[in-house]
Amino acid sequence: MSDSFKFKPENPIVSRLRPTAFSDFTGQNRVLEKLRIMTSAATQRQEPLNHILLSGPPGLGKTTLAMILAAEMHANIRITSGPVIERAGDLAGMLTGLEYGDVLFIDEIHRLSKTVEEYLYSAMEDYRIDVMIDQGPNARSIRLDIPKFTLVGATTRTGLLTSPLRSRFTLQARLDYYEAEDLSKIVERSAKLLNLVIQKEAAFEIACRSRGTPRIANNLLFFVRDYSQQNSQEITLAHAQEALSLLDIDEHGLDEMDKRILEMIGQNYNGGPVGANTIAIAIGEERQTLEEVHEPFLIQEGYLQRTPQGRILTSKAWQLLGIDRKRENLF
Ligand SMILES: Nc1ncnc2c1ncn2[C@@H]1O[C@H](COP(=O)(O)OP(=O)(O)OP(=O)(O)O)[C@@H](O)[C@H]1O
Ligand SMILES: [Mg+2]
Repeated sequence: MSDSFKFKPENPIVSRLRPTAFSDFTGQNRVLEKLRIMTSAATQRQEPLNHILLSGPPGLGKTTLAMILAAEMHANIRITSGPVIERAGDLAGMLTGLEYGDVLFIDEIHRLSKTVEEYLYSAMEDYRIDVMIDQGPNARSIRLDIPKFTLVGATTRTGLLTSPLRSRFTLQARLDYYEAEDLSKIVERSAKLLNLVIQKEAAFEIACRSRGTPRIANNLLFFVRDYSQQNSQEITLAHAQEALSLLDIDEHGLDEMDKRILEMIGQNYNGGPVGANTIAIAIGEERQTLEEVHEPFLIQEGYLQRTPQGRILTSKAWQLLGIDRKRENLF
């Protein structure tokens, strides 16, 4: 296997919780419906799937779905990621090593270098790649044919993808934050796989505090399990509430960092507008983390608004902070 297929092995307990078939995957119904249509049609035609781009915030199931797509197609999956493919040669090596019908999963595809990305265009479209060999007067290009494969790309930032790359995906599917009901089912499923007994209300409590994200739901379940282990065989609502309050996650699912962001904009900038760089520095986070992890949830939940001038707090955020803005402005 080439060096470019560097894949950090996953914690076996975490990977045990990863759904392995469509029937096992909860939520994202609209995306799932499209993926089912594509896989069953491709299977019927006995052809590889068309290229698919999965986007959405971290932890919503992009990698999981890529693996499921390969499994449903009975295809091999090769996993790599944008920053790992440094040179066109890495990509060429990887593509020529593929077999007919293989799924090539490129995580963080928005972080591919410009040159590598351009090589990918012809690979996706014509299943061939022209590589330059030698330099100077001897430089010449050779054409390599690639077996028909499926590219599944994943990104947390569709906006950073160039439009030529984006348009080469037959399907662009965006994953959204999960509803509490779906997350609750995911928590119950994970609990079962971990041989835990959990009250429905406790599972729902965890679901409500998971920022709409299955990965967080599973992590909270792990913590609640540890917390309740000494006390009883069953995870009760009280256990879940006590454990989660220790983690400083409130009943809206906001964690400490979310609240710090809102408080900072409210107290230091009178609710904004304030730029992303300023917020990132003030809270001591990378701008990328702010934009990919914290902001999407705060925006989706209606606490924050993104405007050309910067971020501003909504009235829902002022309410949460316990500040009556109208009254404040009178003084
Ligand atoms: N629909 C789902 N049902 C059950 N579990 C899920 C679902 N989606 C995700 N998970 C769980 O959440 C975890 C995170 O999912 P996954 O790794 O696919 O997210 P991701 O979108 O690839 O995140 P990142 O952007 O950080 O790579 C998985 O280990 C899986 O167990
Ligand atoms: Mg992933």
